[in-house]
Amino acid sequence: MSEDVPERMELEFDTVARWTRDAVAELGPEHAVPAACRGSASPAGLDWLVRACGLRDGTRLADVGGGVGGPAAYARASAGAVPVVVDPMPDACAAATGMLGVPAVVGDGARLPLATGSVPVCWCLGVLCTVEDKAALLDELHRVLAPGGALGLLVFTADTERPAGAPDGNHFPTAARTRTLLAGSGFDLVRERTTGTLPPAPADWQEKIAEVEGVLTRVHGDDPRFAAAEDQSARIGRLIGDGTVVGYLMHATAR
Ligand SMILES: C[S@@+](CC[C@H](N)C(=O)[O-])C[C@H]1O[C@@H](n2cnc3c(N)ncnc32)[C@H](O)[C@@H]1O
Repeated sequence: MSEDVPERMELEFDTVARWTRDAVAELGPEHAVPAACRGSASPAGLDWLVRACGLRDGTRLADVGGGVGGPAAYARASAGAVPVVVDPMPDACAAATGMLGVPAVVGDGARLPLATGSVPVCWCLGVLCTVEDKAALLDELHRVLAPGGALGLLVFTADTERPAGAPDGNHFPTAARTRTLLAGSGFDLVRERTTGTLPPAPADWQEKIAEVEGVLTRVHGDDPRFAAAEDQSARIGRLIGDGTVVGYLMHATAR
């Protein structure tokens, strides 16, 4: 692994968050949710998580590692959930609040600033592969969930932790290891599915993402930090494309 992992992660999750917020300010608020879900599940995947976790009007949702708040805002718009984002990246949190009006708290998933047993539903999407101590994150999600509370996960899995060409800072669990970790942290896995066979995002969603990426390329295309961030997302895209990395959606409940 290269030595500049923290910088690369900060770039991917914090600097790009700031740039995304600026791009949405230029294009208009209807671009905000698709732009903020670029590193996440597709709308069909988010719909699966909304249904599986039983989100409805007024359900409080803690989105841990929630980034710029796209999935949280999607859950609010589609089901009436009342979300809060917790993410270690300050600019991501500022974008969640400033761009989407989602309350956001800077915090580490292994030390959540939430009271024990206080949350009925937690999401943690695309985060497990970015942390080394996965058990600590799952233990903490279990601590803050109310007994019987629902956990929705998007997990990128692979047969080896660091397949050739893996993005810096990613340590992929296997699907089997994820299930074992869930059980060890006090969760019962209720259902799961892979993301590969989900329907594609609607055309207008994809068009909005393309417009956002057009602005990012125009404004930051000459910035080496942009090239580095693009390289990170191209790498995960290639590994998903050739089947080396497989996305799983999981719904578990806290014992
Ligand atoms: C691939 S992004 C996914 C963002 C968001 N969950 C989504 O689906 O759009 C991974 C996120 O994990 C966050 N993250 C990294 N390390 C973390 C940690 N120790 N605790 C909580 N979140 C973390 C990053 O800041 C980033 O926002």
